[in-house]
Amino acid sequence: MRYHALVPAAGSGSRMGGQDGAALPKQYLPLAGRPMIWHALATLCATPAIASVFVVLAPEDIHWPAPMMESLGPKLRVLRCGGETRAASVTGGLRAMASEPGASGDDWVLVHDAARPCLTVALVEKLIAEVGNDDAGGLLAVPVADTLKRGDERGYVLQTVPREGLWQAQTPQMFRHRLLLDALDFAPSVTDDASAIETLGLSPRLVAADASNLKVTWPRDLQLAERILQNRGPE
Ligand code: CTP
Ligand code: MG
Repeated sequence: MRYHALVPAAGSGSRMGGQDGAALPKQYLPLAGRPMIWHALATLCATPAIASVFVVLAPEDIHWPAPMMESLGPKLRVLRCGGETRAASVTGGLRAMASEPGASGDDWVLVHDAARPCLTVALVEKLIAEVGNDDAGGLLAVPVADTLKRGDERGYVLQTVPREGLWQAQTPQMFRHRLLLDALDFAPSVTDDASAIETLGLSPRLVAADASNLKVTWPRDLQLAERILQNRGPE
């Protein structure tokens, strides 16, 4: 069995506040001394089971720091085929991968957001081990701990939503290459890869992760991610 990582990194990070066109896209913001995207790529390249790491950039991206990324070694490959949405970027990446040497439709693809810099090799290995041979694939996720409220537009509680059985989906999410491409063609407007697989009637495996694998979405997430990385020290 062969495993590849696919990292969509063609977003602009509008919720980080960079809408003025001058600010850096979120994945390139400085974090613990490196551009944010470097951290997830370094973890994926350092995972022995992963044969290659494909990163999907926007075609017009001028921020990719090619010289720094060379130090991550020969597993890393750059695809400049990002799209309008995350799903379009992943789909474009899967198509481009198919024409690269050393990738086939039966291979596993671990899709991971560039905006989750605190991923560890141990979590990647746990995902691979727990999904095993299950063709429905799987994803890292965290059981919901807080009580959940549904609110109205004015900010008042409509109801309490039972949290039993609810999980927050993270990445990586791993599926066989051909199946994920078919699923995204069938359901192109999903916000994560597992949702596309679910529309085919399959049930991906939920693999328990922890909150340290957070997605940097809002400005304050950046400081939290920085503290997590710094407490860990160099790998
Ligand atoms: N992404 C992508 N192509 C897009 C949109 C998003 O490759 N058209 C990537 C982002 O670069 C990120 C991941 O998908 O690594 C998760 O998306 P998100 O956290 O929503 O990032 P952005 O879309 O950049 O942020 P925002 O939604 O706040 O604009
Ligand atoms: Mg987005």
